[in-house]
Amino acid sequence: MANSTRDDASTLAEQPSSPRRGLFVAFEGGDGAGKSTQVRLLTAMLEEAGREVVVTRQPGGTPLGSEIRDLVLHGGHVSPRAEALLFAADKAHHVDELIRPSLARGIDVLTDRYTDSSIAYQGAGRSLGSDEVHQLLTWAVGGLFPDLTIVLDVSPEVGRARRGATHDRLESEHDDFHARVRQHFLEIAAAAPERYLVLDATLPPEQLHRKIVARLRAEGVVQ
Ligand code: TYD
Repeated sequence: MANSTRDDASTLAEQPSSPRRGLFVAFEGGDGAGKSTQVRLLTAMLEEAGREVVVTRQPGGTPLGSEIRDLVLHGGHVSPRAEALLFAADKAHHVDELIRPSLARGIDVLTDRYTDSSIAYQGAGRSLGSDEVHQLLTWAVGGLFPDLTIVLDVSPEVGRARRGATHDRLESEHDDFHARVRQHFLEIAAAAPERYLVLDATLPPEQLHRKIVARLRAEGVVQ
């Protein structure tokens, strides 16, 4: 399976000494995995360490992205390829307008979902083909991929129970769909362990946070 490649040759450990770039971390996983809690905990930790942090999400991290989010998650029927293109358009705009400029100013960027969500949900979930969607997404984000992607792994059953009663278009899909999405996140991460951290999302939030911080410390990007 094709996979993400970074847009430059630097590694995670090189980031803090580079004045040109902030740290770029993505949180991925099924719906109900607890990504937003981990984004919040890591933001607080990085800010306490004196770093400037931008927190964002896909879809919806920009004004245009919010409109795309409403269309694709809360509108009427969207064909699978149109869905992939709408998510790609959100990402292209988000990267150009917010993520790249922030990183260039040395600001850390934490995003709740990124390209792997499209590869898993549209590529595997919708059966559009992960290689095709990967190519589309690589073009959309201009080859910019995170330094580290944290996959919060959750079973469809646990995810559904945690989400409660309200579901967007994707969340409303049956458990088979979510099982394919989950499997794909795990395959993407297994193919590039140096750029992924997979965690069992049923662990207590504080424990998950400690594991994330330990990984960033091991890479030398935080003290
Ligand atoms: P998310 O914002 O995490 O949901 P929530 O409403 O719980 O905050 O994600 C919205 C939905 O969009 C989620 O079901 C996953 C889906 N999605 C895709 O299918 N492709 C993508 O590229 C992205 C970013 C999200």
